[in-house]
Amino acid sequence: MTKNLAVFASGQGSNFQEIAEQFPVSFLFTDKRQAYALKRAAKLGVQYYSFELNEFSSKVAYEEAIIALLEKHDIDLICLAGYMKIVGPALLQAYEGRIINIHPAYLPEFPGAHGIKDAWQAGVETSGVTVHWVDRGIDTGQIIKQVRVPRLKDDTLESFEARIHAAERKLYAEVLRELGLKSK
Ligand code: GRF
Repeated sequence: MTKNLAVFASGQGSNFQEIAEQFPVSFLFTDKRQAYALKRAAKLGVQYYSFELNEFSSKVAYEEAIIALLEKHDIDLICLAGYMKIVGPALLQAYEGRIINIHPAYLPEFPGAHGIKDAWQAGVETSGVTVHWVDRGIDTGQIIKQVRVPRLKDDTLESFEARIHAAERKLYAEVLRELGLKSK
């Protein structure tokens, strides 16, 4: 069975690009109209949509607009890839069990918005990357797959970050394959 995939991002979109180069993506959604990810989508010929929470009267109304897109495209799986919003009750109720997220740390270590920096500042010898199902907590859903990423002796925060990001892109594609998505 083909699975229709949507990717949600907020910023750079490097994970989105990696996914879109390897798998058919029905659409990209960004909650920031200026997100660089949109430029990547245009280049890759992937359909995209963008609107912001503050354009709606409530988070429920915002998520209802997202749900309308998901239904229109008959989406089976949503990949959060740097989507910097907490998934609210409306979207969860409609799609829980069909939303996955990538987190730049080895959960349950270092949840939250600054997983890389927090691990760096804690002085860990290894951190990692996690793909997990999304539930109503912050980075608390069931773990699908994780990989460890070392912090090397000569690392700067930037080089450590780059190694984490490379591991993210690789892990996300592996998980999608394991979930039954067919490569392009
Ligand atoms: C990734 O590190 C992701 O795990 C985090 O935000 C970053 C997004 O990067 N939550 P990009 O937009 O995919 O380049």
